[in-house]
Amino acid sequence: MSTSESHGNIESHLHETRHFAPPEEFARQANIGSEEQYQAMCTRAAEDPAGFWGEIALDNLTWSKPFDSAMQGDMPDTKWFVGGEINASVQCLDRHLTTWRKNKAAIIWEGEPGDKRVLTYQELHRQVCKFSNVLKQLGVGKGDRVTLYMPMIPELAIAMLACARVGATHSIIFGGFSADAVAERNNDAQAKLVITADGGWRRGSEILLKKAVDESLDKSPTIEKVVVVKRINYPHVKMVPDRDYWWHDLMEGQPGEFEAEPVDSEHPLFILYTSGSTGKPKGVQHSTAGYMLGAMMTTKWTFDIKEEDTYWCTADIGWITGHSYIVYGPLANGATTLMYEGAPNWPDEGRFWSIVEAYKVNTFYTAPTAIRAFIKWGDQWPKQHDLSSLRLLGTVGEPINPQAWMWYHEVIGDEKCPIVDTWWQTETGGHMLAPLPGIQTTTPGSCTRPLPGVVADVVDEQGNSLGPNEGGLLVIKQPWPHMLRTLWNDHDRFLDTYFSKLPGMYFAGDGARKDEDGNFWVMGRVDDVLNVSGHRLSTMEVESALVSHDDVAEAAVVGFPHELKGEGICCFVTLKGDAAAPAALEDELKKHVRSQIGAIATPDQIRFTVAVPKTRSGKIMRRLLRDIAAGRETVGDTTTLEDYSVLMKLRGGEEKEG
Ligand code: WT7
Repeated sequence: MSTSESHGNIESHLHETRHFAPPEEFARQANIGSEEQYQAMCTRAAEDPAGFWGEIALDNLTWSKPFDSAMQGDMPDTKWFVGGEINASVQCLDRHLTTWRKNKAAIIWEGEPGDKRVLTYQELHRQVCKFSNVLKQLGVGKGDRVTLYMPMIPELAIAMLACARVGATHSIIFGGFSADAVAERNNDAQAKLVITADGGWRRGSEILLKKAVDESLDKSPTIEKVVVVKRINYPHVKMVPDRDYWWHDLMEGQPGEFEAEPVDSEHPLFILYTSGSTGKPKGVQHSTAGYMLGAMMTTKWTFDIKEEDTYWCTADIGWITGHSYIVYGPLANGATTLMYEGAPNWPDEGRFWSIVEAYKVNTFYTAPTAIRAFIKWGDQWPKQHDLSSLRLLGTVGEPINPQAWMWYHEVIGDEKCPIVDTWWQTETGGHMLAPLPGIQTTTPGSCTRPLPGVVADVVDEQGNSLGPNEGGLLVIKQPWPHMLRTLWNDHDRFLDTYFSKLPGMYFAGDGARKDEDGNFWVMGRVDDVLNVSGHRLSTMEVESALVSHDDVAEAAVVGFPHELKGEGICCFVTLKGDAAAPAALEDELKKHVRSQIGAIATPDQIRFTVAVPKTRSGKIMRRLLRDIAAGRETVGDTTTLEDYSVLMKLRGGEEKEG
């Protein structure tokens, strides 16, 4: 038993046996349609990554100047498409205008209050060109950084593409972050301009974004100007002369053409800050050519995107998911991407399903945290709507509990839609492990296999490959075009975070196992692993066992110091519906986990709670729960917490956010 500990391996006890082959009809029309084709691509990519990606880059991107060599240097400092010049907005716009797509819907948008807009490729191009002219007029161009702190409105996509068009690097900050978070990111990126809005709608209330920007500016000396979109008609916006400008004023009379600025392949398209569990946020820097290629190809492969699809990713553009799979990936493919401003439960819990029905959405991509909320709200909401247009479902963000996967498959997908469980990270730029929906048999809880061109493995602490079902560290062993290039202004931290644990390999920070068929099972962040009597167990497996009980909506599992076992298992559990926990339930749940996983995983404590604390991107914050379970003061950064009152309720205390 201690051998697993000394190798740092993680034990897996949860074994899922349900398998779902792609429906025949789906397989027949798929973009990657045969196992042979997939295998050939993988073999080619492993033997000759430069040749593999180089060909794809020539076939799929529109170059201002062709590259001299597809790939140079080993991990971590690989350069892609060296000598080439390209512009990301051309990939998303101009090249579609010479085809019939000119008048195709690029963005279909719905605001939370119910207002609607459709931008064709031609119209989106016009708006992006006009705003590019605005940026130029404001003195923003190649080599500058621009902060975008905006609601989910078309102007956000327009601003992104305009930054790309003039060669500026955008840094998007999720609208739920505070003024301090904005200031910290403005300073780290040394941004020159902020683009924001008076506010945005969220669950019926106004989020005052310009107000937060005003607060941040006292502490953001590099910001020269602010552009403000009028979204909510907030009457008290403070506009400082010669600093603050209304978007609509600046846009008036601007020419609808702007010649895109070609940039070097490696030019930073954007920085996106991702919070480390401790310390200051990391400015993940992505390239232009490699990133665009990854976003485009993974959209084509994983989502099997088709010309006639209405494709909807429910993420916020403030996260990498929105960058790659609302904006850059779909638009580079000339697809129609749906964008929704608000909350899933406004005005009621059926909002997403009414959108699916109204726009006949074909592909729907969301997160496990949302799926667990849908389950908690009840089947009656999706059942009120016609969801028959759906042909493919996706999930991202956390390991999905098999129970949630099955619900998604049955209630939303009507048992006919393949589910793509996509494992990737802000740092990877695009999907890494995911089923190709036309060929891959799926199993609830597994993100299946590496996409073509991705060489992934599970290794021990020494970097040795592990055998089937041995849990260890998830790594990527070969460079890929859409990987992060560095952490902004902190190359040492980049090397240290991702490449120091296992030299020559990218270490993702996640634990995983590979089963006998070569399918990957991600077991969560290695920092979250439990160590019970020398057995390293995945929190995710205990959570999945709990969620498979009929009464449980959501579970968050952490370790706490235990005299005998080293670590005990503490489970925070929320129940379906609003009823209080019956007295017998605690024992019943302990037995349930024991029967599902084994005695080693029997919970020591079950704590019923109304909600579990999550980051704003929907991940369970186990770090805070560990403090609570251990009876410690909550330490570390809580600024990314979605709903601070959850933490207060759990502690029963009176803490201040910060
Ligand atoms: C971490 C990355 C990638 C966009 C959203 C999150 C976890 C993500 C999965 C999945 C299991 C997943 C991992 C990863 N994760 N997708 N399908 N199965 N775990 O981006 O904030 O950079 O987080 O999210 O732990 O390392 P992110």
